[in-house]
Amino acid sequence: MAEKIADLGVVGLGTMGAMLALNFAEKGSEVALFNRTPGKAEKLAAENPELAERLHPQTSIEGFVASLRSPRVIVLMVNAGTAVDEQLEVLAPLLDKGDIVIDAGNTDFNDTVVRNRRWDNHGFHFVGMGVSGGELGARHGPSIMVGGDQRVWSRLKPLLEPISAKYDGSPCVAWLGPDGAGHFVKTIHNGIEYADMQMIAEIYSIMRDGMKLSASQMADIFRDWNERGLSSYLIEISATVLAEPDSKSGKPLVDVIVDEAGQKGTGRWSVIEAQKLGIGATTLEAAVSARSLSSLRKERLVTGKIYYDIILTDGAFGADQASVAELEAALETAKIIAYAQGYAIMSAASREYNWDLPLGEIARIWRAGCIIRSVFLKDITQAYETGGEVVNLLQEHSFAKRVSEGQHALRSVVAKAVNAGIPVPALSASLAYFDDYRRERGSANLIQGQRDLFGAHTFRRLDSDGTFHHQWPAV
Ligand code: 6PG
Repeated sequence: MAEKIADLGVVGLGTMGAMLALNFAEKGSEVALFNRTPGKAEKLAAENPELAERLHPQTSIEGFVASLRSPRVIVLMVNAGTAVDEQLEVLAPLLDKGDIVIDAGNTDFNDTVVRNRRWDNHGFHFVGMGVSGGELGARHGPSIMVGGDQRVWSRLKPLLEPISAKYDGSPCVAWLGPDGAGHFVKTIHNGIEYADMQMIAEIYSIMRDGMKLSASQMADIFRDWNERGLSSYLIEISATVLAEPDSKSGKPLVDVIVDEAGQKGTGRWSVIEAQKLGIGATTLEAAVSARSLSSLRKERLVTGKIYYDIILTDGAFGADQASVAELEAALETAKIIAYAQGYAIMSAASREYNWDLPLGEIARIWRAGCIIRSVFLKDITQAYETGGEVVNLLQEHSFAKRVSEGQHALRSVVAKAVNAGIPVPALSASLAYFDDYRRERGSANLIQGQRDLFGAHTFRRLDSDGTFHHQWPAV
């Protein structure tokens, strides 16, 4: 029988798993390591001699499990999907009642709900946990979104708090709700991440094509914005990317990078879940669609030749200080609207799945460590934690004031971009969401008339209760 030496174990030592394991060890945990590929666990320990004392590579899964103190805590960092199920099947016969297995990958929350049901009844606890911050975050302090049975939180808290990012000393990790809540919140985090990145790229596109600014001028502008309301990791790294030279071409590196963006699917999931819940999240949808369209580069090159003679007014954007300030205000406003959508999805999911998601707390644990970390998140926490119920962030008075002021800039930027033929799908989706959401009399009355005419779907009247069907003239 192997000696029980480890406080927890990590299975799956790819980049993220390895970084998390090192982070745990650095913060004082004894960490058992296992990877299906032989030698990988030993290599990780050998490459990190300063932490090797607390890293315990194991050559078999049986030895790995036996090396863990009870109740055991195992972190799985394997590819989302069947690899998680395969690993759980292997582990199940080796585990005891009360042990905890954490899936820390970017997993579809629907799978987490199913796995929870299956494994929580088999004696061990299954925890779905969202981890954000990429490789560096995993190594030095990610933002961690924990779901699952609340009773295991007291066991996990002392292990997870030390490895998490800290904002003003407070750990960016929290238990958010039962079963799939942690992975769901991570999915919405990624949907917002897509929206944020897309809107920044659209502003970049206006500065490049409308204002004819150079990459280094744009880097300076983003650096300046990073000092104020837009201050965030994504604005900071945008400045870094824009400022980077390319030694091969002598040009800014950004100018030689192919304009196609990849995606692994979490952004898409956020939009699918929004649709399933009946929540319009138009900015997130636009961002996911824009990524898909970006990857059709070959087709775009052909289409560009078909429509080559469309002449547009590219002089509408000045490159002066006032125009740059207008872009800043537009982006800030559109960002509030995008976050309002992300939060609306989480509110709806919280009701639908009885999760009681702590919406203010979510913004709190996103303030450091994760990809969408920004100063702006503290205002969201404040909005949810002071005053009454917030149905939608756009109704909350401090955001309402900011959006009322900023919408002029957003409108002006979108209008100019549309006239100049510069696509701004996410910025304009934010504006349209805002205009639709604030409109007291919408246009869906006509749609109800159409539905009733062709399908007798009935409609409601403004002046009487009940549902009505009308005998429309034959068409
Ligand atoms: C994070 C990131 C991280 C990663 C995703 C999205 O929070 O650390 O969201 O999880 O960036 O894999 O990647 P795609 O852009 O490939 O969908």
